[in-house]
Amino acid sequence: MVRYESVLESIGATPLIRLTRVTEGLRPRIYVKAEGQNPGGGVKDRAALSMLRQAEIDGSLRPGGTVVEATSGNTGIGLALVAAHLGYRTVIFTSSQIAEEKRAQIRAYGAEIRLVDAFVPRDHPDSLRSRAQQFVAETPGAWLAGQYDNPANPAAHRATTGPEIWADTDGRVTHFVATVGTGGTISGTGRFLKTVSDGGVQVFGAEPATSAYGGGDGSQKYIEGAGHFVHPQATVDDWPQSLDTSVIDAYVGIEDQEAIDAIRHLARTEGILAGGSSGIALAAALRIAQNLDKHHTIVVLLPDSGRTYLSTYFNETWLNINGFTRTTDASTTVGARVSPVRFVTATDSVPQATQRLTSQGAGEQDVILVRHHRDGDRPSPHPSDVLGWTTVGELRAASNVTGDLRTVGAAFGAGLTITDPYVTAWDAAGDDLAVVLESGRVTGVVARKDLDR
Ligand SMILES: Cc1ncc(COP(=O)(O)O)c(C=O)c1O
Repeated sequence: MVRYESVLESIGATPLIRLTRVTEGLRPRIYVKAEGQNPGGGVKDRAALSMLRQAEIDGSLRPGGTVVEATSGNTGIGLALVAAHLGYRTVIFTSSQIAEEKRAQIRAYGAEIRLVDAFVPRDHPDSLRSRAQQFVAETPGAWLAGQYDNPANPAAHRATTGPEIWADTDGRVTHFVATVGTGGTISGTGRFLKTVSDGGVQVFGAEPATSAYGGGDGSQKYIEGAGHFVHPQATVDDWPQSLDTSVIDAYVGIEDQEAIDAIRHLARTEGILAGGSSGIALAAALRIAQNLDKHHTIVVLLPDSGRTYLSTYFNETWLNINGFTRTTDASTTVGARVSPVRFVTATDSVPQATQRLTSQGAGEQDVILVRHHRDGDRPSPHPSDVLGWTTVGELRAASNVTGDLRTVGAAFGAGLTITDPYVTAWDAAGDDLAVVLESGRVTGVVARKDLDR
């Protein structure tokens, strides 16, 4: 048995576990590094400890100080637990979109949560990061961990995660697969493994298919933590300094549905309960394994435990609401006529949009959704990219309006309820129109008057 003199010593040294069920038919050995077994339940405990210790060393955090961070959750958990042990106050800025379990855990360590709901570009004064920075500027003794640009984040993985993988595979690892959020995990671990193997280990960045790192359109995704989202109105797109892109040999893009399916399958066949970003990493590894042979050893880093997501990826209601329950035909579950949806782009002018829709044969009363402009050819947008709705008739009536659809958008319907295929929440909201989501993407619309009751 291992004995630790404090909880901080128990961070890291997570197990490597061989997969034997989900790997059926694949030749390489595949091991997962189960970061969910850290004391806070995720890989971020390592970065949190490293950043906080470094801040103590360089004097930016002093006794009586306040630890502050903007985070999608796990770094907040790590910082809250380390700070609780060391006696610092902690204030975490996060959004209501993250799993409730993470917020509850942060509070359990005695940390304060400031919820920021604004959906705005990163450099906007109301963004998560701006609000955290503002708080630090106004609070004496406050220190912003700043995981996106803090060198102590990747350094944690160079010093611990990488050496652990090398030692635990007896130097046999040939492929390393990890998700990319701040980039700390993959940059530090990947750099160590490449150095120690003299370039022998290949490093794969597993990503949501929409993530901008690997060339996706930057739109939102459902899996927390991994990937790089770009707000549709962002004028600058800064990538984190924690990310060393030169370490990554290739990116593998995974759709939300595939990631969710992967962790559900992992739990049911291997008995390993892992989070959503683990699903991205695992799905990518299984794809990579198809082209490898029995001499290869893949290590897949699973960033956190599935226990944090029992109300989301492992919850039937959540899956239904967001369209992740596979159905053969949305109209059979909605119980109404589901119309295929037509889109116009917010940056189109009114005449441009009207002309395009007319040439596509759209009828006067057809519902048209206005979506943010994004490069790329994804046919169905994430709901956060849908601004509102209108009809061809309404557009025609507004033909004298100058400016693009974004500036006049408020003149149109602009009311929309994202609802589940069973239309439960919709009734309560009282809206006339709802979108239908399939695998989390808007694929159709349904009108209340068409409900089959
Ligand atoms: C659940 C989860 N998975 C993966 C990542 C990505 O790790 P990193 O920031 O080290 O790239 C994060 C980061 O926030 C995360 O919260």
